[in-house]
Amino acid sequence: RGPDTYSPTGQATGVPQDRVAQDGAYLTTAQGARLHDTDHSLKAGPRGPVLLQDHHLREKITHFDHERIPERVVHARGAAAHGVFRGYGSAAGITKAGFLAEGVETPVYVRFSTVLGSRGSADTVRDTRGFATKFYTQEGVFDLVGNNIPVFFIQDAIKFPDIIHAGKPHPDREIPQAQSAHDTFWDFVTLHTEATHHTLWNMSDRGIPRSYRMMEGFGVHTFRLVNAEGATTLVKFHWKPRLGVHSLVWEEAQLTGGVDPDFHRRDLADAIEAGAYPEWELGVQTFPDTGDHMFEGIDLLDPTKIVPEELAPVRPIGLMTLDANPSNYFAETEQVAFHPGHLVPGIDVTDDPLLHGRLFSYLDTQISRLGGPNFAQLPINRTHAPVNDMLRDGMHQTAVHRGVAPYRPNSADGGCPFLAGADTGAYIEVPAEVPASRKVREAPATFDDHFSQPRLFWLSMTPVEREHTIAAYTFELGKCWETGIKERALRVLANIDPELCSRVATGLGLPAPEATVPLADVAPSPALSQVGQEWPTD
Ligand code: HEM
Repeated sequence: RGPDTYSPTGQATGVPQDRVAQDGAYLTTAQGARLHDTDHSLKAGPRGPVLLQDHHLREKITHFDHERIPERVVHARGAAAHGVFRGYGSAAGITKAGFLAEGVETPVYVRFSTVLGSRGSADTVRDTRGFATKFYTQEGVFDLVGNNIPVFFIQDAIKFPDIIHAGKPHPDREIPQAQSAHDTFWDFVTLHTEATHHTLWNMSDRGIPRSYRMMEGFGVHTFRLVNAEGATTLVKFHWKPRLGVHSLVWEEAQLTGGVDPDFHRRDLADAIEAGAYPEWELGVQTFPDTGDHMFEGIDLLDPTKIVPEELAPVRPIGLMTLDANPSNYFAETEQVAFHPGHLVPGIDVTDDPLLHGRLFSYLDTQISRLGGPNFAQLPINRTHAPVNDMLRDGMHQTAVHRGVAPYRPNSADGGCPFLAGADTGAYIEVPAEVPASRKVREAPATFDDHFSQPRLFWLSMTPVEREHTIAAYTFELGKCWETGIKERALRVLANIDPELCSRVATGLGLPAPEATVPLADVAPSPALSQVGQEWPTD
């Protein structure tokens, strides 16, 4: 399933779309002219100056000079694999998406990533992991652009540049592990207490996965599914690894990062090469589409909240198997472009303000990262469905479009009319109600509770997980310079749990503050570990 096997659907170029480069019997220029020497520049005599007329030298060096493209602004470090997704058909009652029907097989490409490190950074750092899946369905591309953590730091996309600026290296020294960068990260997540839940997941063992093959994936946001009759259901997407969820311990992560910074990348490629294909079940939690987007008191539009599986079990809807490594890192893993707005009929978005910012951001950044608006034509991004769009020209255009009138309907070259109102298998946004309101820059009151779910997660941890988490907070906060930031972090921890707070305070040599909000009355919840195991609570 490499890119050169993709069918050239919909591209009226006259040029074979699967043209394989580098397969001739002899070396040529980019224009196909046979070369006789690529080791010596053309010079005025063996010891003389190099001549400007050496067009081969200039082509070779110039192309090399432009080999790099900008790395992703986030999630720059990644590894990916090809595979296949098989629908179970169990979601057929709630969505008309064809790829989820029983027995349908859909090629996929999955890219796993860290968030903050640069392209050459180490794999085993404490960070969130990206888990982005491109489904090449018969109805167009569907991208599920998720993470290995079920919640996000912020509730509104307008803060995304700020949290990333706070976590990335500082502009003056560009040292990723600088104390100043610890200060700004902890400054942000303690000033914006909505980040408490995601930060706790990062400080738990989930922040240092053992392998990409042993991670869960989460769509995070609530999506809206629509079935053939037009009935809608709200869902959260989950990937469950067949190998179970496993983490490193901190010392392992540190040692591995030094000995083999490519540990996760190598692990994924080696497993697939050995035929040990990793598998994940895709599942959904379902909620009635009641219009208020609330479920059991939880705001489904708040991406800092989960819905516990005791309240809404995850129902399996298909199986993904990764069975082929990429053949070219740049062509596939670097050039792949995911976007939460790549949706297919039967799957729609909700009004989560974080998701709405993402719907703008991915296309925008990819225009800059991939050099213009035509990157959907790159083999790895090309849909397997026929393309008949009205997008024309632009940088790196490879399609040779026919006809004279790129607008519809038209009477010049017979452009087909729109079939307004008819459900022809087209993508149609669900006509969901928008509450009558006034324009405001504010968050709803239902986004205000920042501590009850972190407390629920803390109480769900085993004793050994709690020890690891206390150690992680103590170590990471110990890297901060500013005592004021550490003290503020302790005030946040006091609102999660007094033991967590006092143990970290002792480790930092600071007094433990009292909680500033009443501790939430939540029951311990083993199912929050998402692996369904039971353990003794002593
Ligand atoms: C990249 C997930 C929030 C902007 C990514 C990638 C993942 C991801 C997995 C890597 C895609 C790849 O492998 O190529 C998420 C999740 C989020 C989230 C799960 C929250 C639930 C946001 C927000 C923004 C954003 C709020 C901006 C408003 C970006 C950008 C990229 C990116 C610009 C780079 C895309 C590229 O260059 O191809 N995100 N993200 N993300 N994300 Fe997000």
